Amino acid sequence: MIAREYTKFISEFVCHPRAVGAVAPSSSNLARHLVESVDWPHTSNVVEYGPGTGSITEEILCQLPSDTTFLAIEISPRFAEMLRMRFPGIRVCEGSVSQVKEHCACHGIEQVDAIVSGLPWASFADEDQTAYLDATMEVLRRGGQFITYGYLQGRLLPAGRRFRHKLNQYFSEVRVSKPVWANLPPAFFYLCRR
Ligand SMILES: C[S@@+](CC[C@H](N)C(=O)[O-])C[C@H]1O[C@@H](n2cnc3c(N)ncnc32)[C@H](O)[C@@H]1O
Repeated sequence: MIAREYTKFISEFVCHPRAVGAVAPSSSNLARHLVESVDWPHTSNVVEYGPGTGSITEEILCQLPSDTTFLAIEISPRFAEMLRMRFPGIRVCEGSVSQVKEHCACHGIEQVDAIVSGLPWASFADEDQTAYLDATMEVLRRGGQFITYGYLQGRLLPAGRRFRHKLNQYFSEVRVSKPVWANLPPAFFYLCRR
């Protein structure tokens, strides 16, 4: 990623620290681990939450089978514009994942097979975590995947612990990855199935 993209990421963080929730984009290493966890043979569509400047998007597009639909939902207009320039032709919905059902409907998707989330769950208030998970359940099919990452230190924060507790309530299966050290800061991810 070029310096201009880092600069945009950091300036967006300064303006909207809770929504961006990180000082640097995800590493290619973390992105690869996340996207390799998608059950591609059983995935005909995939939705990315909070693509930011596109580190995970890039990896999704590398691994995306040609007959699989991809949609990205990004709340920041600056990031959305940047994504459209970086990846011409991809479908970027500018808005909140709280409206995921409406965004999917606009693109003819009723049920989603896999969601890869870059949202900073540990910096969200309780009601936002619940609203975004409720919205997710409106579109994710039974057996569908929900893959999301967090930072190791965030697991200890009250909001991080609360999020983990909610995952157990919403999903039938919740697995936790090993730490991904090659990321700033070191990360891990949850692999959930509805
Ligand atoms: C931690 S950054 C991750 C960016 C990118 N996925 C990465 O891994 O480098 C969180 C992203 O989620 C976006 N975001 C936060 N709240 C959102 C919401 N309610 N709906 C959609 N995107 C949101 C932010 O604008 C930001 O791009």
